[in-house]
Amino acid sequence: MRVIRLGVNIDHVATVRNARGGSHPDPLDAALAAVAAGADGITLHLREDRRHIRDDDLARIRAGVAAPINLEMAATAEMLAIARAARPHAACIVPERRAEVTTEGGLDAAGQQEKLAPIVAGLREAGIRVSLFIDPAPEQIAAAVRLGVPVVELHTGAYAEGHPGELERLRAGAALAAASGLEVHAGHGLTYGNVGAVAAIPEVAELNIGHFLMGQAILDGLPAVVRRMRASIDAA
Ligand code: PXP
Repeated sequence: MRVIRLGVNIDHVATVRNARGGSHPDPLDAALAAVAAGADGITLHLREDRRHIRDDDLARIRAGVAAPINLEMAATAEMLAIARAARPHAACIVPERRAEVTTEGGLDAAGQQEKLAPIVAGLREAGIRVSLFIDPAPEQIAAAVRLGVPVVELHTGAYAEGHPGELERLRAGAALAAASGLEVHAGHGLTYGNVGAVAAIPEVAELNIGHFLMGQAILDGLPAVVRRMRASIDAA
């Protein structure tokens, strides 16, 4: 049986923590819980504006989690330096600014080849496995091949939003990428309801899922934590 790796993105644990400015809930604890529950890796996005994950989170998760770490990052000199110092297992280059995004939401690798080449080279030199977060479009896959990355992560956002024809585009993109020698990952907007069709694409080796899991963790976890708080109050 083909086993697809599951990367759990813990960014939004940091979103909740940052809403109060303290240290709870700690994304490191969430990463450890996810791995204990069967996640194959932890994904985190250190954004240029540090709106969720912060530099110290990356350092603590890198030091405290034995599973592979996948750092999502913008193609900037600052992020390259951080990645080279942290040495995660993998780095996925994602768009953060409007000019870097295609209409579908993936990285415009085809339009930014000159900018991306030195970032890809710098990551590769540090022994980091590089992927590009792209739309399942032939021109983006061709650009990934030209850039020499080993992995592409296909953007499933348009599929998750229910746009017609997107599942077929993902299937065709995955087949083309694999036939071009690329390992195929996928992610964005995946839920219990829509993950199955993507997981069934034969070339998909890894899925990265975050927001839905964290939202569902709140809903599934709330009864237990309310019961425990009720018991603590009642015991006083
Ligand atoms: N893959 C990449 C490259 C991402 O940037 C993200 C976060 O947007 C995800 C996967 C996970 O998406 P989501 O949080 O919607 O599951």
